[in-house]
Amino acid sequence: MSLTTCTIHVTQRQDRMLYLSSDLADALKLAKTRNVTLMLGSKSVALGLKLLKKSGNHLYLPHSLSNQLRLPRLGTSMIVSHDGKELRLGPMIGILTSVNRSSEAPFGSRTEFIRSFMRVNSDKAFYFGFSPSDVNWSQETVTATIPKSEGGWVRKVIPLPDVIYNRLPSRSAEKLASMSAFKQRFVKRGIPLFNWSFFDKWDVYNLLEGTNAFTHVPESKINPSSAQIKEMLEKHKFIYLKPTAGSLGIGIYRLTYNPKRGYYARFRRSDKNVLLRFSRFDSLMSHLNRQVRSLNGYVAQQGIRLIEIDSCPIDFRFHMTKNNANEWVVAAIGAKKAGKGSVTTHVRTGGQLMTPEQVLKQIFGSRADTVLTSAKESAIKLAEDIERNYRHTLGELGFDIGIDMNERIWMFEANSKPGRSIFKHPALKEQGRASLQYIYDYCLYLSRFRARRDT
Ligand SMILES: Nc1ncnc2c1ncn2[C@@H]1O[C@H](COP(=O)(O)OP(=O)(O)O)[C@@H](O)[C@H]1O
Ligand SMILES: [Mg+2]
Repeated sequence: MSLTTCTIHVTQRQDRMLYLSSDLADALKLAKTRNVTLMLGSKSVALGLKLLKKSGNHLYLPHSLSNQLRLPRLGTSMIVSHDGKELRLGPMIGILTSVNRSSEAPFGSRTEFIRSFMRVNSDKAFYFGFSPSDVNWSQETVTATIPKSEGGWVRKVIPLPDVIYNRLPSRSAEKLASMSAFKQRFVKRGIPLFNWSFFDKWDVYNLLEGTNAFTHVPESKINPSSAQIKEMLEKHKFIYLKPTAGSLGIGIYRLTYNPKRGYYARFRRSDKNVLLRFSRFDSLMSHLNRQVRSLNGYVAQQGIRLIEIDSCPIDFRFHMTKNNANEWVVAAIGAKKAGKGSVTTHVRTGGQLMTPEQVLKQIFGSRADTVLTSAKESAIKLAEDIERNYRHTLGELGFDIGIDMNERIWMFEANSKPGRSIFKHPALKEQGRASLQYIYDYCLYLSRFRARRDT
């Protein structure tokens, strides 16, 4: 396998000949080849091959064949040759998401993030966004939303991609059987799709149960009964009740038991933090049952005494990605300090973004580096163990990680479509860019557009 980059030109010639500059033919080890199959995503054309005495990596394709290939644009891309017979242009990286056809922001609130992803090595890959309704299976094409170099977007019919980064935004839509079947069709065609769907909190618990990394997961119960809640409160003194399919801290309760004073429930209601006290467990439960109707779909989780600054608990977002060698890396870490009286550390409830170095120095002094290193190692183990038990391809994870005063590392939640709010912190902007570069590199790995050491 040989891999390089090239400039693609389209000519007005009528023949079925591909012209390569001699430099490019040498780089691809094709100097003696007469016939090739040129591929782009799901499309391919058979061509004769001729060399041009010209320096630099150039490829000239007759107009009619570039139409047949549905080439999205001219300019540069990677090119890879296999066995001296097949040439692939690409990679074509499709971002699966919801698309708003008429808008300047075709991917809604995700547009800016997707646009910055598409800027990573934009001269080496074909990026586009698409939604399920954009795919034409019988033609093996997709009506893609493609960034224009001068800004704005254009819609074009192009081949199915080499790899798909799933950023579908709706939990409920993604749960539909039809959506599973849709995604499965790509996988059946050998098109890798990573980050299959949203995780429920309980899914992650099940994926980790029995693995080495399970020591980092607080004790949890799904659909907890009153008796289980009581028992957990007696054992741990405080617990979290969280909707298994929830996010953004919505619907979360923090329950505390104090043998002398009774039970406390802390939660958020209409943009305010509420704290209620109950002298009897039964009154706590009847209050909860009135508020949430049923604890079905809730997870009760052992409360972890997080490190604190100014009496506000702090937790961390570990943004994990795969790299070009298919290994997990910690791409970025943000620290989040809870707003006063808030049950969670989300920015929307008054939480404040900080860097992990700032926080850990203040709390652990000279041990800060050791604690951070150990947290990174734990996060990598957690990602590896989740992936090992997961049926689908994973390329990115967002862990909500807590650290307690005994330096123990705990994971509350794994997000498979992690948000990017930590990258708003000025000190984390560079890590934000790095995280996108890693995802690009992982796309190269999945689509086999990388120089492998083993070939
Ligand atoms: N078991 C726990 N112990 C201590 N704090 C917790 C626990 N579970 C959640 N939290 C706090 O609440 C936040 C939100 O919980 P999380 O499980 O991430 O739910 P969500 O999906 O709403 O983000 C966490 O980031 C953490 O600050
Ligand atoms: Mg969370």
